Amino acid sequence: MKDIEDRNDIIYLVDTFYDQVRENKTIGPIFDEVAKINWQDHLPNMYDFWESILFGKGVFKGNPMIKHILLSKKTTMSQVQFDAWLELWTATVNANFKGEKSDEIILKAKSIANLMLYKIEQVKTYA
Ligand code: HEM
Repeated sequence: MKDIEDRNDIIYLVDTFYDQVRENKTIGPIFDEVAKINWQDHLPNMYDFWESILFGKGVFKGNPMIKHILLSKKTTMSQVQFDAWLELWTATVNANFKGEKSDEIILKAKSIANLMLYKIEQVKTYA
């Protein structure tokens, strides 16, 4: 099994991951029923996000923290939802890739997820 080496690998990973997400009972409906996202816009945005995180290519322009805080006002975004997200992410990476970058993309997702959850809880406390 090879490591994640370029944008094409990221595209494959992200597409495979969101196919699983949409099937997932805990988080699928947040995308398709609550946020009703346009997948044709969302997926390329996610390729850019992960390419900039993993390979330092500065193509992503967005504000994930704000987006997820706003989402938490419309639906439950707690440990349960983040655990489901992370479990799928880790399983999808490990089923398809192996190596330093693969380990890194799992670790980065965990730390971003923890930070998101922390910010969401913080907003709940002070808002
Ligand atoms: C319970 C877990 C999660 C759910 C239900 C969720 C759901 C969503 C939804 C519905 C959007 C679209 C928001 C919009 O365009 O208004 C979005 C955007 C995004 N998500 Fe998540 N997400 C989760 C966790 C994560 C995690 C852990 C990461 C990163 C490691 C992440 C990264 C992103 C990024 C980069 C965007 C694009 C933000 C932007 O365009 O500014 N998400 N997410």
